Amino acid sequence: MNAEAKQDSTSLVDKHGRRVDYVRLSVTDRCDFRCVYCMSEEMTFLPRNQVLSLEEIFRVAKSFTELGVDKIRLTGGEPLVRKNVMSLVEKIGALPGLKELLLTTNGSQLEKLATPLRDAGVNRINISLDSLDADSFHKMTRTGKLDKVQRGIEAAVAAGFDAIRLNTVILRGRNEHEILDLLEYAMGLGINIAYIEEMPLGDVSDHERLDTMVTNEEVRDIISERYSLDPIDMTTAGPSRYYRIDSHATKVGFISPISHNFCETCNRVRVTVEGRLLLCLGNEHSMDLRKVLRDNPGNDDVLKTHIIEAMDLKPLQHNFYDKDQPQLVRFMNMTGG
Ligand code: 5AD
Ligand code: SF4
Repeated sequence: MNAEAKQDSTSLVDKHGRRVDYVRLSVTDRCDFRCVYCMSEEMTFLPRNQVLSLEEIFRVAKSFTELGVDKIRLTGGEPLVRKNVMSLVEKIGALPGLKELLLTTNGSQLEKLATPLRDAGVNRINISLDSLDADSFHKMTRTGKLDKVQRGIEAAVAAGFDAIRLNTVILRGRNEHEILDLLEYAMGLGINIAYIEEMPLGDVSDHERLDTMVTNEEVRDIISERYSLDPIDMTTAGPSRYYRIDSHATKVGFISPISHNFCETCNRVRVTVEGRLLLCLGNEHSMDLRKVLRDNPGNDDVLKTHIIEAMDLKPLQHNFYDKDQPQLVRFMNMTGG
């Protein structure tokens, strides 16, 4: 390993010359929803000792920022159901060197937490919303209450985040007829929306993935019948392509982790709630940071050395449907999207 040769002390660069400056941290595998594309109805969650403590998550966040990471996203499961999560958000929000703190949430707790999150320094949030019909919302999330989430979305708009984006997974036979309604809901609130193609993650027995997948091309065609979509040039958008709708503030994103190849500009890594550093969502390459954290209490230099070394594990590209590779059975609620 020649980590020292190519790393300076404040930046992470992988073997392929890509600079890693964005980390997604899963803060819990638990969630109050059971979305059909994410979880099975009966879920067994991790025992407490396998999950990083809030202090350990903070050590990871701090170490990454000391290695030049300036953008952190907190994910889950549902990050806001973790006990005392606001104390972690506040500490991460105060880290010098961090330019952007982002959060992905299902919105169920936002009615009370939107303003505290904004005050803690969260810049932007993504809120999952798959339907505007209470019944089909409940069916897709299995437990979610639409009115509560909508009040959460309104609270987020009022709290004045730099940007809010709705995340929508369109499934054939469930919500494909709501593509325009969801767009117009976002336009009415002056927020953004991203349509996400369903990914083959998790052990989902509810439906066959290839039957329900609606491609972004189909979604785009439906929107284009009513609105003109002007592409926005954004090189840091990862797997997303963004468009502006006529003169509206709303940006429309299309996220297709499978059908598009964004790997050459990939700047991100993930840390699961068990402290596993994942170098790529579509591959198994990873490093166990939990062991490093627990073997070296109070010593973040060892942690940082391991993070630097892990960069060499980042693969050139992902491969979700390659028949020569074992099928990934990784749960979205553990990898944090
Ligand atoms: N495919 C695509 N998107 C998914 N999400 C969760 N599971 C999947 C999947 N299998 C999305 C949710 C949420 C975000 C955290 O990830 O819609 O917005
Ligand atoms: Fe929970 Fe998000 Fe998974 Fe839905 S997609 S079950 S809200 S973690």
